[in-house]
Amino acid sequence: MKSARTFQKLISITKIYIAIKNKIKIFIQKQKYIFIASIFCIFFLISLPEELNAIDKDLGKNLFDNHCSGCHINGTNIIRRSKNLKISSLKKNGIDDPETIAKIASQGIGIMDGYEDQLGKNGDQIVANWIWEQAQKAWVQE
Ligand code: HEC
Repeated sequence: MKSARTFQKLISITKIYIAIKNKIKIFIQKQKYIFIASIFCIFFLISLPEELNAIDKDLGKNLFDNHCSGCHINGTNIIRRSKNLKISSLKKNGIDDPETIAKIASQGIGIMDGYEDQLGKNGDQIVANWIWEQAQKAWVQE
C-alpha cells in the first residue's frame, strides 16, 4: 500500500500548491489596482509643476501686459532706450537674474516707479521670471 500513500501525499501537495497559487493570484490582482493607482499618482505629481509653471507663465505675461508693457513693449524702453529688457542691456546694467528684475519691478529704479502695490503678492517674482525667460529668447514670441 506504499504507492497509495505516496499518491495521497502527492494529491495533498498539489492542493497546497493550488491554494498558494490562488493566494498569490488574488494578491497580484489586488496589487494591480494599487500599482495602477500609484502610476496615476506619479503622473499627477510629475505634471503638477509643469501645470503650475504654465499658470505662472500666463500670469507673468498678464502682469507684464498690464503694468510694464506701456513703457517696455516687447522688451524695449520707450523712455530710456538703452535701459531695455533685452539680455545685452540687462547684463550691461548688472541685472543678472530674475531676482534683480523682481526687485526693480517692486521698488523701481532711477526714474522708474516701483509697482509693488499693483503687482500683488509674488507678482514681482512672477513677472520677473517671465521677463527673464523672454530675455533669454530675445523676446521672440513662439
Ligand atoms: C512708465 C514707464 C515704465 C513702466 C510702466 C515700467 N518701466 Fe521699467 N523702466 C522705465 C524706465 C524709464 C527705466 C530706466 C530707469 C532709469 O534707469 O532711470 C526702466 C528700467 C527698467 C529696468 C532696468 C532695465 C535695464 O536694462 O537697466 C527693468 C528691469 C524694468 N524697468 C522692469 C520693469 C517692470 C518689470 C515693469 C512692470 C512691473 C516696468 N519696468 C514698468 C520705465 C517704465
